[in-house]
Amino acid sequence: MAQQATAAGAAGMAGMVAGETAIAAALQDALLYRGYEIADLAEHATFEEVAFLLLEGHRPDASELDRFSKELRGERGLPDRVSAFLDESGELFRSGAATAMDLLRTGVSILGHVDPECQDNAPEAELNKSKRLLAKIPQMIGRMQASIEQRDAVAPDSSLGHAANLFKQLTGRTPTEREERAFDVSLILYAEHDFNASTFTTRVIAATLSDLHSAIAGGIGALKGPLHGGANEAAIEMLLELREAAGKGDSVDSWMQRAFAEHRKLMGFGHRVYKQGDHRAPILHELGRGLAQEKAEAGDASFVELFDLGERVQTIMREQKSIHPNVDFPCGLAYFTTGIPIAQYTPIFVASRVAGWSAHVMEQHANNRLIRPGADYTGPAQRAWNA
Ligand code: COA
Repeated sequence: MAQQATAAGAAGMAGMVAGETAIAAALQDALLYRGYEIADLAEHATFEEVAFLLLEGHRPDASELDRFSKELRGERGLPDRVSAFLDESGELFRSGAATAMDLLRTGVSILGHVDPECQDNAPEAELNKSKRLLAKIPQMIGRMQASIEQRDAVAPDSSLGHAANLFKQLTGRTPTEREERAFDVSLILYAEHDFNASTFTTRVIAATLSDLHSAIAGGIGALKGPLHGGANEAAIEMLLELREAAGKGDSVDSWMQRAFAEHRKLMGFGHRVYKQGDHRAPILHELGRGLAQEKAEAGDASFVELFDLGERVQTIMREQKSIHPNVDFPCGLAYFTTGIPIAQYTPIFVASRVAGWSAHVMEQHANNRLIRPGADYTGPAQRAWNA
């Protein structure tokens, strides 16, 4: 049996560099999208500008942004086959047979079947397909949610940008200015993150010279898991469980001590790269708290109380475990404050990350080599079948 020439990698490939990218850098002291720092983008850019930056490689000027924005709005309609599937999808969700991420993954596959350039990996075709996916995924999510709730789907609103239109798809209402900004920023924060698990998945698929829709469907499969994108749903579910326990007389501290004793992973905490804290988390936490405060001023203090509870959990985690919240923790809180259905938090992540995934597929195809690492064999020594 030939031995691998390489030494055993760390579990989960921790700390290993798996390739090159010019799209983003997740560093201990900064997160850069094509050189722009995430806090700078969150403060000054819109999601559409960031999506253009990722897909086209440079900051759009006013006319480029106008064209891009019009293109996205013009591509929001869904092909009949996709609509037909999504209109049936609610039943699969309600019966527990499929999650919203499963349904979105299938929806993207069907979208590939009817995309005229599905099998074309040329740069121009891939850019066209990326924009179509980016434009259509919010409608797919909205149509699926309508089917889940057994109501009519909300028509795409061409007066609204990407974030506000997606928000309306999910809630049936136009967001307030503050909600729109917080939601738009959440999409900026989620758009890209170098070789995270789902992006690496898309690159592995693309590197076989497979097509963009296959890569994105694979990315959705990887993002679904609670150790990755699924953490934004898991984080709020955990906080609601904690609130319920507190309502029955349990204290946050004793709940946390039990969680530690059971070696339970607290969702929305920890990060493979950012051991001193996720740069994105405080940005979204502050915006989410602002939303909760707005609700409190309108007479409902329950969201501010949930943020207080979340902050108590963060303090205990920091003081006793030196583990910090990642972006999914404030995301769960912020989305919950706006009334977006919890089951769609991770699909919303897709509506944003599809920009980063697509950029990576194009980058991979532009300078491709099959991604096929080796493994340290730990099975039995060579033996004969007829021994
Ligand atoms: N809750 C409790 N303990 C945690 C933790 C969490 N969320 N995240 C990490 N830890 C602990 C681990 O149990 C481990 O402890 P040990 O050394 O006593 O075994 C230590 O911190 C190191 O963590 P490790 O699992 O090696 O980190 P990783 O880099 O392999 O995993 C995550 C990173 C993100 C998968 C992990 O932090 C996690 O599962 N977080 C919860 C899910 C989540 O929020 N995912 C979204 C990521 S953006």
